[in-house]
Order: sequence, then structure tokens, then C-alpha cells
Amino acid sequence: MDSPKKPRRRSQEWFGRDGKQGFYYRSWLKELGTPHDMFDGRPVIGICNTWSELTPCNSSLRELAEHVKRGVYEAGGFPLEFPVMSLGETQMRPTAMLFRNLASMDVEESIRANPIDGVVLLMGCDKTTPSLLMGAASVDLPTLGLSAGPSLSGNWRGQPVGSGTGVIQMSEMVRAGGLKQEEFVEAEACMQRSKGSCMTMGTASTMASMVEALGLSLPENAAIPAVDSRRFRLAQLSGRRIVQMVHEDLRMSRILTRAAFENAIMANAAIGGSTNAVIHLQALAGRIGVQLSLDDWDRIGSRLPCLVDLKPSGRYLMEDFYYAGGLPAVLREIAPHLHLDAMTAGGRTLGEDIANAPCWNREVIRTAEEPFKPEAGIAVLRGNLAPDGAVIKPSAASPNLLRHRGRAVVFEDIEDMKARIDDEALDIDETCVMVLKNCGPRGYPGMAEVGNMPLPPKLLRRGITDVVRISDARMSGTAYGTVVLHVSPEAAAGGPLALVRDGDFIELDVPGRRLHLDVDEAELARRRAEWREPPRPTRGWAKLYVDHVQQAHLGADLDILVGGSGDTVGRDSH
Ligand code: FES
Repeated sequence: MDSPKKPRRRSQEWFGRDGKQGFYYRSWLKELGTPHDMFDGRPVIGICNTWSELTPCNSSLRELAEHVKRGVYEAGGFPLEFPVMSLGETQMRPTAMLFRNLASMDVEESIRANPIDGVVLLMGCDKTTPSLLMGAASVDLPTLGLSAGPSLSGNWRGQPVGSGTGVIQMSEMVRAGGLKQEEFVEAEACMQRSKGSCMTMGTASTMASMVEALGLSLPENAAIPAVDSRRFRLAQLSGRRIVQMVHEDLRMSRILTRAAFENAIMANAAIGGSTNAVIHLQALAGRIGVQLSLDDWDRIGSRLPCLVDLKPSGRYLMEDFYYAGGLPAVLREIAPHLHLDAMTAGGRTLGEDIANAPCWNREVIRTAEEPFKPEAGIAVLRGNLAPDGAVIKPSAASPNLLRHRGRAVVFEDIEDMKARIDDEALDIDETCVMVLKNCGPRGYPGMAEVGNMPLPPKLLRRGITDVVRISDARMSGTAYGTVVLHVSPEAAAGGPLALVRDGDFIELDVPGRRLHLDVDEAELARRRAEWREPPRPTRGWAKLYVDHVQQAHLGADLDILVGGSGDTVGRDSH
């Protein structure tokens, strides 16, 4: 038991009890073969695992958990692994994002309800990272993030193939008649060659980088390949470290400061990270009580250069990124901009973590003086089409389309788009602006990654590879193009996007940060009077979600989940 001078462990509210209650709490855990001295007040470490065969990107996490446990035992802790809802990006319908907030509730309540003093979050596939971070933040125990890591580089017929990015490119080739269906199928196994998350700088790699840039993991978490032995070493070190974090009472809120979020925004620019990071970090900030606005992304990150030449914008893959030095090498390059005194989970400052970070390949990680792309962070657009903002990733867009005025070709929802996009009679050319409605948080529901609409075959056959696209949807981090996303308020909430009609003219001005619908106010008022809200779901999670989800610029969290309840120990039921 703790000496009187030490703070009483949270887990001792369970295991330190006398009488019937203590018997209950200890006895059933002894069926795992647990010796009695494991209940003596040592830190109890929850290992929150999203392993699932339905989340193949996280299929290495069972093995990784065993290495975390080794570290916990070595440092004198007591590890207890537990599962939470796992969100497999490629399998879940209608979209894994519909369940991000639900999974975060699972994480939050699982941590709070159990005898846990500190927690290691095992995550990987896109939504598993924000859901675990958000849930853990609402409890605010000492918390350490550990990502699955990217899979090995895809390779098809001697050429690198990036997760997601390769699918998009090859499916366009099939639709344009340049690739046979059997060749397309052959490429499937060549792309995903090993366990691990997508190996492009998509959402999974972006979010793993955010975990590291926020200071929530040990250095190098973002890029070590999932099957590299150094990933398992990192797991063991993470297990050791979380025990120390409990001793130091180094809670999530001491790491997730405003400075940490600003560092993450800058890191996202420097890696050319996914627009999804905006949604997830906005939601995370809301959980931990940090004021972060959409405009902060533009103000803090948009003028920073992208330093890494990674797909979807560039040539290389995450394996190359790790061998080149990974995120520490990037952060060192942008160090003059960062808050170097920010505390990280390792117990040092960010500045100490990256002070001697080497770069081994300047083709993959460029210098700040000769970047891969200048001014590459997220740009936030406003105007009468997006009063609460919209985002675009200029580094993934076509430079000639960043200022553009075009005729709107409008799809009322995703079904409408799928039904008509391949129609040769669709009245569209490369100067048009494709508009997709009702794919936001409420409209889809769940805000699917459909904002990068496929191009009509008749344009693809003419060699057109990009057209301005605007929607209230999200876009896969592995996608690219001149795609305006997260238009807020969304169409299903009665935002101006709902009022756009075929033939309207839209002005996009990324340098001027403007998104304008060229229709006079009187006409918009007439259309607004005719607008009717789409029917809402009537039961279950979908109803709860639609009734409570906030708009994209706030992170699409449920309004009832913003903030946290802390680590309060519930009543004893025995
Ligand atoms: Fe799971 Fe990309 S689909 S990480």
C-alpha cells in the first residue's frame, strides 16, 4: 500500500478496499493469475486496444500490446489490456466517421469506470486515433499514445503504389479505359503488403504525426513501419514511460496546451497533412478545454512550407519518410516557428526531443530554405457560400485553379452524384465547378470522405485531371485535387450550400481566402424560403448523432461531449 506521503492512486479506490468490496475487485482479477502484490498501490496501466480483424490497419496491435506490457512490468506497473470499439476505415458503412464520437464515448467511459491510473492508447486507422484521444482527454489521466505505424511501401510491377492514392489513380485509369479490370484486381495485394496503416501521408499517418507533434507519444511514433522491430522497441519504452508518467502525475491536460496545438498545426503544414486533422484537432481541443478556432489553422499554419515529398502530393511513402529521419527531422527544420518549451510525454521539452534529430535523405525531407512546396498549410476560406468557413489543402491542388470562377454543376447528394457522374450527357467541362450537397455531419450523416468527387469520364479521356470541387464533405487524406471541403454550415443544416443551383457562378480565390456564390441576396432569400430540411434518422445512434452533432468548423463532436468529466471514481456497487 502507498505510504501516507504519496498521493493515493486512483486504482486504490478499488484494490485498496477492505472487506467485501476489496474482495470483489481483487478476486476476479486473480482469475488472470494475478499475484496479490499487484494490488499494492503500483500504477495500474490500462492498454486501450483497437485491434480488430475488421480494422486490418490495426491488426498488429495485439502483438504491440504485449511489448507495452513488458515495459509496464519492467517499470513496476500492472498492465491491464482492454478493447474498445474499433473503426475500420475501409469496411464500415456508411462511413467510419459516423462512429468516431461513439467510439470516443466507449473510450471515455471504459477508462473512467475502471481501476486505471494511466493509459496507453493503441491506435492506427484513421478514426481510431481521434476517437481514443478525445475519449481519453475527457478523463484526463496520464496518457501515452502509440500508433500501429504504416505498412510497408506498396509495390506493383516495380512501381511504388501508395495506399488510397494508388486506388484513386488506378480507378480513374480503369474509368478512362487505360487499365484492365484484372490488372486493377492484381494491384490490390501489391498495395497493402504488410500489417499497418496506410503508408501515404493520409489521415492515419497525419494523425500519428499529430500525436507526436502534440507531445502525446515518444519521439518517432509517427513513421516507424508497423512491422519494423523498432516499433516494438518503442512499444516497450512506452510501457516503461507511462508508469513514470503516473508517478509524475503528468496528465494529458499538462501536455495538450494551446502551444501543443499550435505546434501540431505547424507540423501538419510541414508534412502536407490531411485536412481531416482540422476536424479531429478541433474536436480534441474542445474536449481538453483549449480555445482553437478554424482561423488558427490559417493564421498559424498556412504560410509554412511543406517539407516532405510524400504521396498523395509527392513521390515517396512513409517507409522512406522514416528512413529519412521521420517527424523529428521535419520538426527540427521548422524549429524556429515551434513552441520548443512545450512539454512532451517523454518528460522533456519538444526542443530537447528534436535538438539533434538527423535527416538522412534530403530528397524525402527538404530544408526550410528549399521546401517541397511553399506556403502549404491548410487555407481557410470564407464568403457567402461558407459563412463559418471551409478548408482547402493548397499543396494538393492545381496551382492554376486556386483562383477560378466557374459555372456550378450541382449534385444534390451522393446518390445523385453517383447516378449522373458517368453520364455522357452531363453538361460539364473543365471550367465548371462541381458542387456536392448534403454530405456534411448531419447530411450524410457522418461527413463521409466523398468531397473529392471522381471526374466525369469524358473529361478524363481528354486528359483533364482536376476540376474545382466544393462540398460539405471531407476528403480522404490520400486524395488530392482542387477540392474545397468542410463547407460550414452544411447544406443539411440550411447553410448557403443548400441554395446553389446548376448554372450559378462560383468564385474561388484561395490567395484571397474567398468562396463566393455569385447570386444576389434577393434570389438567395427566395431559395431559402423554399428550402426544407432533409428527414432526420428516427432511432438509435444515428438519431442521437444527428440531433447533437456540431458543425465541421467546431470539429463535428457531439455538443453533449464537449469538455470532460475528469477521472472521478464512480459509486461502489458491491
Ligand atoms: Fe486504415 Fe488507411 S484505411 S489507415
